[in-house]
Amino acid sequence: MSPVEGEAMPVRALVVDPSAPDAVRLSQVPEPEAGSGEVLVDVTHVSLNYGDLNDARSGRVPAGAVLGSDAVGVVVRAAADGSGPAVGSRVVALTSGAFAERVAVPVSALAEVPKELEPARAVGLPVAGVAALRSLRNAGLDAGKRVLITGASGGVGRFAVQLAARAGAHVIASVGSAARGEGLGEIGADEVLIGLDGLEEAVDIVVDGVGGPQLVAAWNLLAPGGSVQSVGWTSGEPAVFPPYATVGPAKSLTSFVIDSPAGADLAVLTELAAQGDLAVEIGWQGSWERFDEAADALRGRRVSGKAVLEVSPS
Ligand SMILES: NC(=O)c1ccc[n+]([C@@H]2O[C@H](COP(=O)([O-])OP(=O)(O)OC[C@H]3O[C@@H](n4cnc5c(N)ncnc54)[C@H](OP(=O)(O)O)[C@@H]3O)[C@@H](O)[C@H]2O)c1
Repeated sequence: MSPVEGEAMPVRALVVDPSAPDAVRLSQVPEPEAGSGEVLVDVTHVSLNYGDLNDARSGRVPAGAVLGSDAVGVVVRAAADGSGPAVGSRVVALTSGAFAERVAVPVSALAEVPKELEPARAVGLPVAGVAALRSLRNAGLDAGKRVLITGASGGVGRFAVQLAARAGAHVIASVGSAARGEGLGEIGADEVLIGLDGLEEAVDIVVDGVGGPQLVAAWNLLAPGGSVQSVGWTSGEPAVFPPYATVGPAKSLTSFVIDSPAGADLAVLTELAAQGDLAVEIGWQGSWERFDEAADALRGRRVSGKAVLEVSPS
């Protein structure tokens, strides 16, 4: 990257372009300007989330805007208000428009990366890790609870399995095939199921990233007082509840979104990962110039854990 002081230079970024194959292309955008509570970060790695693919196609991120939420990089200008990390600190951030060589990040949306944690692993934590942590917290995670994680092979799923197991829960991981369930026992799943086959005993918590018929089946398995956290909907299928399915002892189906700055939760997750207590599995890694390949692998259910894009050498 160019020096920070002096004339603003354009920076490369992955921007939304509805005419491109994946509605995304590598382009140039103006260098970002940092507000007083923001740092400027030179990005080395970003991670691709399923939600980014939806955002590019749905118009939620408009044409011409920079895509992405997960970035790791080095601070090149500290926040003007004196808050946050110093120049030279390596940070991980959950921020909109993350897929650029240089980004402006609110101090409340980042955490410093401990030196024991590789940048390529740290970058897998923001959206997927924070969704797993907050949805389990919202649901009242506790030792001894029976916790069902759907889409357990994916980014959110793998973190949710580990966090629930660490809390002493009985963890049931649901995946699409036996191959997709590999390794989940080693990171804390007590049971690994294809779909919900064979699951008869009630569960207390569901973290659901799949939606559709599996959400209906999970609801039917939910114990009184239990909570389904509807985090995602990768099946793309409607959920049809049979008559009276929602009538009975109180239990809840709660919508979920990450809607507040993630810095404090990122600090928790990076610390766990640095200590070896939270594995960040990388299922795809390569240059951001290969965005289409990464997107294809993610959509094709061929990524176990996270897809990591390299922006520049660290
Ligand atoms: N609300 C929020 O703030 C928030 C935050 C993070 C993520 N999300 C959403 O949560 C969902 C999961 O995100 P992620 O990052 O974990 O995605 P991911 O890494 O791509 O994993 C998605 C998982 O969904 C399963 N899956 C994919 N297509 C499926 C289908 N047709 N039927 C059944 N299962 C299918 C896959 O399981 P198998 O390969 O085992 O079949 C895969 O493990 C997405 O919908 C994402 O948008 C929302």
